[in-house]
Amino acid sequence: MLLVENLTKSFGSNTAVDRMTFEVDRPMMIGIIGRSGAGKSTFLRMMNRMTPASSGRLVFEGTDVLQLTGGGMRQWQSQCAMIFQQFNLVPRMDVVSNVLHGTLNRRSTLGTMFNLYPTEDIHKAIDILDRLGIADHAAKRAEALSGGQQQRVAIARALMQDPKVILADEPIASLDPMNAQIVMDALRRIHDEDGRMVIANLHTLDTARRYCDRVIGMRDGRIVFDGSPAQLTVGVARDIYGADETFSESATSTEIREHTGHQARVPA
Ligand SMILES: Nc1ncnc2c1ncn2[C@@H]1O[C@H](COP(=O)(O)OP(=O)(O)OP(=O)(O)O)[C@@H](O)[C@H]1O
Ligand SMILES: [Mg+2]
Repeated sequence: MLLVENLTKSFGSNTAVDRMTFEVDRPMMIGIIGRSGAGKSTFLRMMNRMTPASSGRLVFEGTDVLQLTGGGMRQWQSQCAMIFQQFNLVPRMDVVSNVLHGTLNRRSTLGTMFNLYPTEDIHKAIDILDRLGIADHAAKRAEALSGGQQQRVAIARALMQDPKVILADEPIASLDPMNAQIVMDALRRIHDEDGRMVIANLHTLDTARRYCDRVIGMRDGRIVFDGSPAQLTVGVARDIYGADETFSESATSTEIREHTGHQARVPA
């Protein structure tokens, strides 16, 4: 389904992503972990063509994504929707209009100029908001919502594009533990129910363990771990983060204990 082969990005003499290679054969939920500067965001940006790769290949369902240009590239960008740590909503605009923004690249210039949205799109937007539990807030300005609600609006905007892949760059890094859980639960549910691939950069180990089917650990631009949450032992985590014996999981944890959904799978 997805093949990443020797994907590399250099900024001058600094190699941010170094011959990254992995393959995904079904729409999994994948967590990418690693310390600051490991190359996680650079990878996601290359994947959705926000940043040009220096070399390597990225093939999705038989299409060499890095070779796409013009309309083909824009189509790919709407097939792999991006979610950011800071939500990237238009703060003063109402929630529904923010969600409808997800359809902008396939609308006519005239419709865009006059802010006209097809009725079916408006219904679709409301349905998606309802699914995420925030339809009640549809008419409010985005800035009036809590962080967790805003991130769900961003997810709704992404779903509006009906993407095959959702790329999430630290989607919960700005949220308190309770909202972090709500947002991760939403991403997991979208993955489970719709069969969409989710690739999320995560800054905490416990989140990657709890929600992902597969975890990729990066260090200095390279993949140093690729396996199941069960294989992600404390020793492996130490290696990914380049830490010594004093490394404690709590340093990378957003744990909340009264969790009801997925159980944390912490190997001994
Ligand atoms: N536009 C850029 N110009 C120059 N160097 C860059 C640029 N973007 C990223 N880098 C460098 O590439 C490396 C990887 O950065 P990246 O943002 O991908 O790391 P990250 O794993 O996402 O880190 P964080 O956890 O802090 O978000 C870093 O050394 C960074 O300084
Ligand atoms: Mg980053």
